[in-house]
Amino acid sequence: ISLKKLNTFGIDATCKQFVKIEQESQLEVLYDQQIFANQFFVLGAGSNVLFTKNYEGTIIHMANKGISHFIEGNYIYITAKAGEVWNDFVWYCINHGFPGVENMALIPGTVGASPIQNIGAYGTELMHVFYSCQAFDSHNGTFTTFNKEDCKFTYRDSIFKTEHKGRFIITSVTYKLGLHTAINTSYGAINAELAARNIMNPTIKDIAQVVSHIRVEKLPDPSTVGNAGSFFKNPIISKDLFNQLKQTHPTIVSFPIDEQQTKIAAGWLIEACGWKGKVVGNVAVWKNQALVITNTGQASGLEIYTISSKIMNDVYKKFGINLEREVNVL
Ligand code: FAD
Ligand code: EPU
Repeated sequence: ISLKKLNTFGIDATCKQFVKIEQESQLEVLYDQQIFANQFFVLGAGSNVLFTKNYEGTIIHMANKGISHFIEGNYIYITAKAGEVWNDFVWYCINHGFPGVENMALIPGTVGASPIQNIGAYGTELMHVFYSCQAFDSHNGTFTTFNKEDCKFTYRDSIFKTEHKGRFIITSVTYKLGLHTAINTSYGAINAELAARNIMNPTIKDIAQVVSHIRVEKLPDPSTVGNAGSFFKNPIISKDLFNQLKQTHPTIVSFPIDEQQTKIAAGWLIEACGWKGKVVGNVAVWKNQALVITNTGQASGLEIYTISSKIMNDVYKKFGINLEREVNVL
């Protein structure tokens, strides 16, 4: 079956076998059929994957649905099934008046993928609202629970991308939100847009709308232009290297982390190498955001991958910084 509609790059790759999961119990059946003894890959909405060839194993596509919550003291616990659309979960919270996820409105993808790379945007990250997740262990066919500490979340990373890569299938996620969490306008672009709209005391709905607006302006819509958001992570470098670079490149854009480290805007580095808006064959670097690589229509995954390697080479040559791909390459 073709995976073209199941990855936001719109790559026309196929897989050997495809299973859509609507009930968790299907996973136990698949285990008994020894499906997990062979090559398999868990797919949500495919908004962070790049297929560079046909997939020779089983695609496990998460499509189980359902959201519920309860309130205890000052906290709301919301459990959403893995196949729920992340943005639908965000709006479930907003419509119920639950604060804490509005800055992450409109991130594409599913609830089940949200812990994998500790998704984040506009001043917050998943780890600040994550409580636990339920996962199916493909090694022994049982369900298990991971709490926040177990997941070892850091910037765009978790245990599911490192030690446990490819082992667990997340079936639901429980988020813990504070009923009285304050609005977060720490990200500069939010403040500017609120000011432009003359909003002095924003509600969580205002924040979600402002963030959604900024995203639509800056990022290509995968339904018309194939892409997977940021292709690379923002690199974290030592303060020493940063201070050195600042001498030669005074306009370099950075985000403070701590005394030792600084995060650099990879988009700035890529733009400084002349890649912004560049078109090579069927691949283009997005004109409004150099961190996004797009498929102009007929690109193969390999073509996109090759361009990403060229960008990495150029950034390394100019700045001595190794970019790391955020997108999961298959
Ligand atoms: P997929 O792409 O299907 O899978 C991603 C990875 O997670 C794969 O390794 C897959 O095996 C694994 N996985 C998926 N579901 C499960 C599961 N249930 N159990 C176990 N493993 C699973 N990301 C951000 O963090 N911030 C952003 O602001 C952001 N903006 C984006 C903008 C655009 C336009 C696009 C296209 C992408 C953007 N992304 C962003 C990346 C993407 O939205 C996230 O990585 C998202 O979590 C991917 O969800 P998905 O369901 O599409 O996962
Ligand atoms: N910049 C440039 N040129 C560019 C792009 C960016 O100079 O072409 C500079 C600008 O100074 C800009 C700054 O970089 O102000 C930051 O850009 P932006 O606000 O777009 O954020 P980002 O650091 O490029 C990160 C995430 C995004 C997330 C936004 C908002 C990563 C890898 N990317 O991008 O996440 O939406 O912040 O919080 O951390 C994703 O992961 O797929 C993704 C889109």
